[in-house]
Amino acid sequence: TRFTADRLLVFGATGDLSQRMLLPSLCALSHDGLLSSALKITGTARSAMSDAEFRNFARAALEKHLPANRRGGMADFLNRLAYQPLDASTVEGFDALAQKVGTPKQGLAIFLSTAPSLFEPTIAGLQSAGLTGANVRIGLEKPLGSDLASSREINDAVAAAFSEDRIFRIDHYLGKETVQNLLALRFANLLFEPIWNANYIDHVQITVAETVGLESRVAYYDDSGALRDMVQNHMLQLLALVAMEPPTSFDATAVRDEKVKVLRSLRRVEESESVTGQYRTGVVGGKSVPGYDEELGKDSETETFVAIKAHVDNWRWKGVPFYLRTGKRLPERVTEIVIQFRCVPHSIFQSRGARTQPNRLVIGIQPEENIHLSLMAKVPGLDREGIRLRPVPLDISMPDAFAGAVKRIAYERLLLDLLEGDQTLFVRRDEVEAQWEWIDAIRALWAREGLTPRAYPAGHWGPSAAIALVERDGISWHE
Ligand code: BG6
Repeated sequence: TRFTADRLLVFGATGDLSQRMLLPSLCALSHDGLLSSALKITGTARSAMSDAEFRNFARAALEKHLPANRRGGMADFLNRLAYQPLDASTVEGFDALAQKVGTPKQGLAIFLSTAPSLFEPTIAGLQSAGLTGANVRIGLEKPLGSDLASSREINDAVAAAFSEDRIFRIDHYLGKETVQNLLALRFANLLFEPIWNANYIDHVQITVAETVGLESRVAYYDDSGALRDMVQNHMLQLLALVAMEPPTSFDATAVRDEKVKVLRSLRRVEESESVTGQYRTGVVGGKSVPGYDEELGKDSETETFVAIKAHVDNWRWKGVPFYLRTGKRLPERVTEIVIQFRCVPHSIFQSRGARTQPNRLVIGIQPEENIHLSLMAKVPGLDREGIRLRPVPLDISMPDAFAGAVKRIAYERLLLDLLEGDQTLFVRRDEVEAQWEWIDAIRALWAREGLTPRAYPAGHWGPSAAIALVERDGISWHE
């Protein structure tokens, strides 16, 4: 069902995500002329507010979170906004909401950015108010449950009202240009694909490091922890994009079919294959910061760091470990994927005392997007003893290659696709469930083993056991 929605209804419109991402993205899209001129946006949340008050609220959020040079069309954008207060936990109020939204000419897109506990009552409310017809699609923001069972429950509730082709599960990493570029790198170039397998790749590392701590989401984060907050969704999506077979085309079914096969091929993690940590007081970016417990105000066994040795059990990846690590309060903010190739099968230089190092491809995703391939080269000179070799980088900086390109918010892509009905960058039900299945098994293992997070000082790369996890295999984390 392809239609361009001319009504957008945002639940959780006064929340943090709405202020930081959704309103700024929509305003930027409006400014760039990418939204249909007919599009009207209704926000809803618990707080009582008039349309005018909501517009003021939105203006303040835009001034804070959208760069000045992208705010050009702000007045026009604010004119699209309306607001209807609602307690989503009961069906009362949904009729008034439907009236406020009005009858769309083309269709309605709904965006749920609320606590997952409100998903089911919200769907019931939407149903009772007739807001689930064939010209309505729904976007769901994470967390989509906290384990497989709760995720199934949410998926079932949504499926009772919306067919899968109208359900858009968000993983904002898929909205990042740099993540989409992974597909371009792999499938728009001939160079990599022939060697993108266990014959030529020794291992893969995926790092998503953050310098921030708990921020304002205390209750959510302490319930969730790094495994469920980052690995279940973003990191497994990155892994799937790195490991998937070439899809036959860049369309929603073909791409997601290939990703889900990877997710289903993930081997169960064993006892010695994961490490968890929790930050203590330390120094990040030259500033001393409190430990997790102190920030939280109580003791907690929630992990703020996790490292995992994962395996994709299929032909292409037989015997190739995928080392994943993510954490809060690490030394720098960096998301990158490292493809470590194998050694050349025979070194002709060895007889002259020169050693070759294996090639390595580093795909930088944030904060800067760059691609860095290390190649061996001869060190210039007339060495008597023979020849000296050294790795030299072949570097591509994407901001330089595409100078002048606007740096967009991931949600701009995703909101546009939601409005227009393109599911390629959204997560299908079978993907989410395969992700949870793998994650649940890890949590069950931790519970069985009585594993609790090891301390690491803020500003370090997790506990030392995370280093040992790879060093045992003769590998070091890329830094
Ligand atoms: C969110 C997590 O999904 O992703 C946060 O809940 C995390 O804990 C954030 O900080 C990271 O996103 P980004 O885009 O800053 O890498």
